[in-house]
Amino acid sequence: MPKIAIVDKIHPDGIKLLEKNQKFQYEIIEDLSKKNLISKLPNFDGITLRRGKIDAEILGKCKNLKVISRHGVGYDNVDIKFLKKNNITLLVTATTTSVSPAEHIMFMILNISKGINLYDKAVRNGKFDSIMHMKNNNNFELSKKKILIVGFGRIGRKLIKRCLGFEMKVYAYDPFIDQKIIESLGGIKVNDLNDGLKTADILSLSVPLTEKTYNMINLEKIEMMKRSAIIINISRGGVVNEKDLNEALNKGIIYGAGLDVFEKEPPDNNNPLLKNERVVLSPHAATFTKECASDMSIETVQNVIDFFENKLDKSMIVKL
Ligand SMILES: NC(=O)c1ccc[n+]([C@@H]2O[C@H](COP(=O)([O-])OP(=O)(O)OC[C@H]3O[C@@H](n4cnc5c(N)ncnc54)[C@H](O)[C@@H]3O)[C@@H](O)[C@H]2O)c1
Repeated sequence: MPKIAIVDKIHPDGIKLLEKNQKFQYEIIEDLSKKNLISKLPNFDGITLRRGKIDAEILGKCKNLKVISRHGVGYDNVDIKFLKKNNITLLVTATTTSVSPAEHIMFMILNISKGINLYDKAVRNGKFDSIMHMKNNNNFELSKKKILIVGFGRIGRKLIKRCLGFEMKVYAYDPFIDQKIIESLGGIKVNDLNDGLKTADILSLSVPLTEKTYNMINLEKIEMMKRSAIIINISRGGVVNEKDLNEALNKGIIYGAGLDVFEKEPPDNNNPLLKNERVVLSPHAATFTKECASDMSIETVQNVIDFFENKLDKSMIVKL
């Protein structure tokens, strides 16, 4: 009977699938410290993984492990070289993790472009009329604005539909995606990132964190953008250089930013971005909707069950 470790709490809807399936044993592991994971995980045949880092040292002790099912689509918290070398399958929640993040990007764009945080504060503080006399009205319409989507995968393709609904012009930079796919969805393929950055009013990042994407947006790149531009990063901390972003915002090199992810999570209290009023922040919460939390937990667990029952939908497997 396969033993499944549920690493990190997930929505109960996913757990229910294991509760009613007598062919599996399972245990929920909430203490994500390396010490705990290294002592607990060696007994298991399968792991579902939300937060928590599973490195080569931990994996080296898991002699029975056949599959890791990520609760999510990013897998920068697993040592994929080890998985590949040892023929351990990696699964992701390929169908349930893109609508909420795409909506979250829209929420951040709308928040910044309409100055919602400022308005909310003004009304609460009895300064209802002050907004009317605002000298520096930086709010802007999305209609006719140009957005550059970097990373045209699952999230990028949900985002484009929402942007087109707002009558935006959409550019996509993704060297691995054919021009025809981008055009068929109403976008324009950009072959050179720098050209895209110069054109964009809004830059949105939906790429995995890899050696190539680490700090792909740094001061040099930001300086190519319009002074009125905004950057939204819901992908992974580290894709945007935080120090450079903060400097660019403070010097007016760009107008604003929305961040759902940070290089260190939670960010340190003294991270200057936390005090920067030109940034809208959320706590890695792009999937935190009722629908997405439930659907992701079900897909995560169903994937691991399907793997052991030889019924797996191949689109869930990451090609390592
Ligand atoms: N904040 C959150 O809660 C949250 C939720 C879901 C996903 N994410 C992050 O968003 C990322 C994207 O998710 P997805 O489902 O769209 O993934 P995906 O794999 O479907 O798409 C990623 C796209 O990025 C492209 N890409 C890779 N390297 C690139 C590069 N150097 N330049 C340009 N494009 C590049 C790929 O070709 C692919 O099309 C995930 O890897 C994850 O890290 C975050």
